[in-house]
Amino acid sequence: MDQKHENTHTPRVFSGIQPTGNLTLGNYLGAVKRFVEMQNSGIETIYCMVDLHAITVWQEPQSLKAATRELAAGFIASGLDPKKSILFNQSQVPAHAELGWIFNCVTRMGWLNRMTQFKDKAGKNRENASVGLFAYPTLMAADILIYHATHVPVGEDQKQHLELTRDIATKFNNDFKTNFFPITEPVIEGVATRVMSLRDGNKKMSKSDASDMSRINLTDSADLIAKKIKKAKTDADPLPSSLEGLENRPEAKNLINIFAGLAGISSEKVLEENAGKEFSKFKPILAELAVSKLMPISKEMAHLMKDTVYIDQVLGNGANKAAQIANPILEKTYDIMGLIRST
Ligand code: TYM
Repeated sequence: MDQKHENTHTPRVFSGIQPTGNLTLGNYLGAVKRFVEMQNSGIETIYCMVDLHAITVWQEPQSLKAATRELAAGFIASGLDPKKSILFNQSQVPAHAELGWIFNCVTRMGWLNRMTQFKDKAGKNRENASVGLFAYPTLMAADILIYHATHVPVGEDQKQHLELTRDIATKFNNDFKTNFFPITEPVIEGVATRVMSLRDGNKKMSKSDASDMSRINLTDSADLIAKKIKKAKTDADPLPSSLEGLENRPEAKNLINIFAGLAGISSEKVLEENAGKEFSKFKPILAELAVSKLMPISKEMAHLMKDTVYIDQVLGNGANKAAQIANPILEKTYDIMGLIRST
């Protein structure tokens, strides 16, 4: 058994995305682009298509398969390299679900009752939500802790789930008088941790928004990207010269942050370069930037999607590598808890 990582908590990055279709600009700037940066910084990185999370709400089987492959293609096309990062789909590594069950027994109902994402997703029809949707955050904690991951890059909307992950690790460690699980650091950084809807600057850009015009998808054509930016809601004022001038202007702030995220510069710098411009002038520059950054990705995605054999191979190889890290940690967890394993 490889026990190299036990208790030492070597830096290791883990993050996941649900394969539920429509990888958005929010997912890209808030997560995938940062996954690539972390991969290229040389730290060990593990990125997962969380299909077991996707099925907490109904998924059409054929669509789920296609969406999982499309997400894998999106990862690779954005710069994640299967030779540098472990890329796989969650259901191929059963240790996630096994540790998820254990965490269901560690986590208190009261903790889950406070999760705002469950309240949002279940809506008024709480009685009819799946048990899986309620327990979603315990599986997410398992995703992270089954690798003893120390750092988790995510967008702002995942903050509460990551706090819960820390609570679960702390309770397990206290209950069993150990320091087995690391207390994971959320990495919510950069200018685009919360990309907003193009139709409403107070609402998060989301793949589930009823209006496709509210978001940019990584599979959108150049014309469609330009059209969505042209039609994006704004106010009537020209761009200010500093961040204070963006207060109470959520749509303007969002477009500036999107520009900064795509260009890899600060929002201040974007304002410095564009102060005084009307949106009619700024939007075409933003559209050109978005197209130049996103088109190579969508072209590569389309190319990769033609080779599902390759994609499935990447996912299978990634799952094997992931299991090699996860299985010894699962075995040790069972052992700590007094569950007999005959090997
Ligand atoms: P998911 O699939 O909803 O989103 C994937 C990632 O994209 C980020 N994101 C955004 N960032 C900025 N602006 C936006 N508008 C925006 N929309 C989405 C999310 O914050 C996330 O980082 N529960 C997770 C998946 C998950 C996970 C994990 C993440 C399962 N297990 C373990 C980290 C570690 C989710 O539903 O993400």
